[in-house]
Amino acid sequence: MNQPELNELLSTLPLGEIRYFDSIGSTNDEALAWANKGAPDLSLIVADEQTMGRGRLDRPWFTPPGTALAFSLILRPTADEKPHLSRLVGLAALAITESLQKLGLTPQIKWPNDVLLNQRKVAGVLIELVWSGEDVVCVVIGIGVNILKRAVPDTDILRFPGTSLEGMLGHPVERENVLRDILASLTALRPQLSTDEFMNKWGEALAYRGRQVKVDMGGQTVVGRLEGMISDGSLRLRDDNGKSVTVRFGDVRLRPFTDILRK
Ligand code: BTN
Repeated sequence: MNQPELNELLSTLPLGEIRYFDSIGSTNDEALAWANKGAPDLSLIVADEQTMGRGRLDRPWFTPPGTALAFSLILRPTADEKPHLSRLVGLAALAITESLQKLGLTPQIKWPNDVLLNQRKVAGVLIELVWSGEDVVCVVIGIGVNILKRAVPDTDILRFPGTSLEGMLGHPVERENVLRDILASLTALRPQLSTDEFMNKWGEALAYRGRQVKVDMGGQTVVGRLEGMISDGSLRLRDDNGKSVTVRFGDVRLRPFTDILRK
């Protein structure tokens, strides 16, 4: 991958400016800095390697050179999009699932930000906001996809079992094509962000629907049957007493089957 190839590959998509790095700390950090300096809507940062890649809740995210996709997209939300910023994680996750479906795979979204293949995490999304006073002026959508088996860290340091496209397909794939497909899906889905159709698509892609799950909300846990999401993208569970419970953040695990996979 290099800058001219990337420019050519993405030339038909409605993107802003594109910046490529052989190695970088974190594409999200670079995107946040660029956003503050006026990056146009849909500007993109792509890196071959990240040395300080970050996941949600400041967890480390590994991007060894030549093995993965690591990129960040800067959105300048319109007035119509601003009431729906909490749906952007779904926009990114859906774009990833659509691109993986094109490879013949059956991805699911583990709420809120993981994409799974066969119950194993293949991709993650990290959304970060740039504020001006009370107003969100930019959203950085960071996406990491494990392309080669070597992108998946040792299971000992993983909180959830991981996989790669190579591991699932049995052969390597061209990461450039996956990047183009994700960006094509994301830009095509973006105008639907405020619609019920979008929420339906997102809901249909959710993993563990109808199953008993445990959500860890940073110490506090909720257990219940996963019913779906409400309109802001929060998760809706039904607890054992039949009460509806809304979860705004947390880590979802199947109860108790996910733990078996870790062994
Ligand atoms: C998660 O699963 O917690 C989210 C992982 C997000 C990783 C991507 S890789 C590109 C971008 N840069 C980062 O430092 N993180 C995101």
